[in-house]
Amino acid sequence: MTQTITLIEGDGIGPEITAQVVRVLQALQLPLTFDRQTLGQTALEQTGSLIPETTLQSIRKNHIALKAPCTTPVGQGFRSVNVQLRLAFDLYANIRPARSLEGVKTRYENVDLIIFRENTEDLYIGEERKIDEDTIEAIKRITRPASQRIIQAAFEYAAAHQRKKVTCVHKANILKQSDGLFLRIFREIAAQYPQIEATDLNVDNACMQMVMHPEQFDVMVMPNLYGDILSDLSSGLIGGLGLLPGVNRNEEIAIFEAVHGSAPDIAGKNLANPTALLQSACMMLDHLGYGDAAQRIHKALVSVLCDTPIRTRDLGGTATTTAFTDALIARL
Ligand code: NAI
Ligand code: MG
Repeated sequence: MTQTITLIEGDGIGPEITAQVVRVLQALQLPLTFDRQTLGQTALEQTGSLIPETTLQSIRKNHIALKAPCTTPVGQGFRSVNVQLRLAFDLYANIRPARSLEGVKTRYENVDLIIFRENTEDLYIGEERKIDEDTIEAIKRITRPASQRIIQAAFEYAAAHQRKKVTCVHKANILKQSDGLFLRIFREIAAQYPQIEATDLNVDNACMQMVMHPEQFDVMVMPNLYGDILSDLSSGLIGGLGLLPGVNRNEEIAIFEAVHGSAPDIAGKNLANPTALLQSACMMLDHLGYGDAAQRIHKALVSVLCDTPIRTRDLGGTATTTAFTDALIARL
């Protein structure tokens, strides 16, 4: 049966990397079709809406989307497109695996961690209020149900994938009530998985530990803001934002997307690294039961990186987005 995937080209470098990822997927001749939809700046220009209803309907119908980064116009009072999309479908888990890639030289060799970021609350609920001209407050909301389901998802993943350790990242020494609740729930759930080691770290210490000894981390779970920051940090451990894939999901709907943004500084120049979106597509293939196809892509990627000097500028090379993808497709 042909699977239809909602495809969102996004803004900035989005259309360039999407085109390349689609080329790779088409080269594999899988029974996949794409339902192209718009979101973000492009959608606003074309339809007058940042999040068109047709895009939401398509995702609701297909349950699967592959999404390139989108730009939210700044200073016009718009709420982040990405945050809104995640909230619209209650995609509570943002899962971001950072794994050292053979052929990419970094300071570390054996990074293999996976971040479970709570995706619906914390400081991202967007409740800021003006007290007076010089004073603004932002609300950080942590609830039991939202914390419970993301922490449970992290432990379930660890158990299903023979992972040994789950680390909770928080700032409960200062945010005693909010992060304190998250940490308490973590300990409650950890007790149900005696075979998995459970540890916790304050977020500042976690940053230092990740930079010093990232190999010690396995599954990590944390509230929204820390997850946003630590996932960019973890991309730095494996070679940069051009590599890190991710998914926003719940039990019904999964939107696969790279961790990086629309990179306006390099947009339209054929310079972007398509790997992060491609690895997100590989996560999507795994999810759809095409694990073999995902493996083929991964092998071709590693072959380009190990056997040739062909790489995009972010990885120290001079290849264009298209030339890099050409080399990868030739090795599929
Ligand atoms: P960014 O991730 O777009 O860029 C940060 C740096 O990484 C830039 O120097 C960029 O050139 C580089 N970079 C990112 N992806 C790359 C790739 N594939 N290949 C090579 N270099 C890459 O973050 P920034 O500048 O903070 O945000 C730009 C825009 O993206 C904003 O409008 C932001 O709201 C949006 N954004 C969208 C996201 C999404 O749609 N999921 C996530 C993050 C940001
Ligand atoms: Mg981010």
